[in-house]
Amino acid sequence: WIASAAGLATAYLLGSIPAGYLAGKLLKGIDIREHGSRSTGATNVLRTLGKWPALAVLLVDVLKGAGAIAFARWFYPWLGTLPSVTPPTAIDLQTLLPWAVCLAGLAVLLGHSRSIWLNFTGGKSAATGLGVLLALSWPVGFGAAAAFGVVLAISRIVSLSSMLAALTAIALVCALEQPLPYRLLVIAGGLYVIARHRANIQRLLAGTEPRLGSAGRESQ
Ligand code: G3P
Repeated sequence: WIASAAGLATAYLLGSIPAGYLAGKLLKGIDIREHGSRSTGATNVLRTLGKWPALAVLLVDVLKGAGAIAFARWFYPWLGTLPSVTPPTAIDLQTLLPWAVCLAGLAVLLGHSRSIWLNFTGGKSAATGLGVLLALSWPVGFGAAAAFGVVLAISRIVSLSSMLAALTAIALVCALEQPLPYRLLVIAGGLYVIARHRANIQRLLAGTEPRLGSAGRESQ
């Protein structure tokens, strides 16, 4: 149990790496949480710091999600090879590993949006969620990314694109043959990402959500 908790803590700490916050501090000496949407995500980095910092933050945030899944897939089987740990039977590992991966995926999403280094604030976990999806099941990941691209091309609203991508991921993971823990991760993670967009939903309803490349850069 201690070893399992250590695995989860690692995924959470990986998610906690505050790439967007560090970009603001290092490039402009600002706290990005006091600008734009207050989010530390790549979209707010784009409106506050520009294209290249946003691309770098996007890449790091996607890698955090994929890294947490890759880490869990390596870490738990590796634990079983340690002499001090009772090795799980092959059947145990086959059953337990997808659940461990599911929890690590949720932990990295939580870490990104509730970073231990930022007083439990952060981003909305959309890019980190994409990384989780790509590592978990590439058809689901690419399907969600495609939905994001189509909605963004039509609407130029990133938040709307992120939320519809999350819904697409949920639909795909339910439609495709996927283990139950993976389905639960994508459903819970997708709903969590949408819930993190509460302020965006209010602005969308009020018609004040900024579009890419338009004014309103400092709106929350
Ligand atoms: O991934 C976050 C994005 O969907 C919305 O970001 O800064 O416009 O709230 P933001």
